[in-house]
Amino acid sequence: MPSGPGGRLFDHALNSPLGIAAGPLLNAKWVEAYARLGYDILTYATVRSAYRPAWSLPNIRCVENQEQAAIVTRRVRPGVCPTLAVSLGEPSTEPDIWRKDVRRAKERIGRGQMLIVSVAGTPEPEHDAEALIADYARCAAWAVESGADAVELHLAVPDPFVEQPQMIYENIPLAAQILYRVRTTVALPVLVKLGAFRSPRALHETATKLAPWTNGFVLVHGLHRRVLDERGNPAFEGSGRESANVVGADIFVVASRQVEEILAWRRAGAWDRAVLAAGGISTVERAQYLVREGADAALVATAALFDPLLAVRFRQVRATAVA
Ligand SMILES: Cc1cc2nc3c(=O)[nH]c(=O)nc-3n(C[C@H](O)[C@H](O)[C@H](O)COP(=O)(O)O)c2cc1C
Repeated sequence: MPSGPGGRLFDHALNSPLGIAAGPLLNAKWVEAYARLGYDILTYATVRSAYRPAWSLPNIRCVENQEQAAIVTRRVRPGVCPTLAVSLGEPSTEPDIWRKDVRRAKERIGRGQMLIVSVAGTPEPEHDAEALIADYARCAAWAVESGADAVELHLAVPDPFVEQPQMIYENIPLAAQILYRVRTTVALPVLVKLGAFRSPRALHETATKLAPWTNGFVLVHGLHRRVLDERGNPAFEGSGRESANVVGADIFVVASRQVEEILAWRRAGAWDRAVLAAGGISTVERAQYLVREGADAALVATAALFDPLLAVRFRQVRATAVA
C-alpha cells in the first residue's frame, strides 16, 4: 500500500483525504476491509434507534440517468463505474448489535484513519417533531459512546411533518433543531448529510443557517428521481418506491457543481466548516479535482463497490505527484 499524501479532518491527522460514504460499510468487517484497502475516512452505514428491515429485492438497480427519469439498464461496462438507483428503505440493525459492532470497527481501523457513524432518527406515527429530534440525539449519543470519532446526521431522508414531499434538510428550522440538540448532547464533531438543492440560493441559505450548529457538511447524498424499467413501469415493487436515490458516475456533473458552490460560499467567508464531497466520484481524477478545489475529503460509495482498489491508485498518483 503506497503511503498516503496526508490529510486532516477536525483533530485527526489522516493518511489521505479519501473515504467511504455511508452505505457500503455495513458492519465492522466491511469497515476493516476498506480500511486495509487504503480508505482513511470510514463511514459506518446509517443506523437507527430500532431495527428496520430493508425493502424487498431488487433494491439496487443499474440505471441510465435520463431527462425524465432514471431508466434501468443492462448495459454495464466492465471496469466502468455505473450509476445506480438505490431503494433500500434506510434499514438498520438493532441498537444492541450496532453499538457493540461500532466498537469493534473502531478497534480495527489503523493509524491515520477515522470512523464516522451515520445516524437517522426514526419518525413514529402520532409522534411529533420533538420525538424525532430526541431520537436523532439518542442515536448520536450511542454512536459516540461506542467509539465513533464523529457523527453524521442523515438529513436527506423524508420530512414526515409536511404534506408536500421534501427532505429534512429542506426544512431548515427542523434541520437546525435536530443539529442544535445533537450538538448540545455530544462533544464530538457533528456532520450533516445533505441532498441536492433545487437552487444555488437554497444551498446558500441552508448552509448559512446550519453552519453555526455543525462541524461540517457531507454532500451530495444523491439525486432523488423516478426510476422506471425498460418498459416504463416502476422499477421497484411497492408503494413509496416510485422514486429512489440515484448515485454513481452519472451524477458527478450535478453533485460536483453543488460541492463547488458550497466551497465558493465558504471561501466568501460566511462560515468555516468542513466540506466532505460525495456524489459520482468514480475516478481518481474526480476525487483529486474536488480535493484541489478545497473539499476536506472525497467520499465514494458506488466506486467503492465496483472499483475497491481506487484508494490504492489515489495514493499512487498522489505519491508520484509529491515525488
Ligand atoms: C448501496 C448503497 C447504500 C447506501 N446507503 C446509505 C446509507 O445508509 N446512508 C446514507 O446516508 N447514504 C447511503 N448511500 C448514499 C451514499 O452515502 C452516497 O451519498 C451516494 O451513494 C453518492 O455517492 P456515490 O455516487 O459515490 O455512490 C448509499 C449508497 C449506496 C450505493
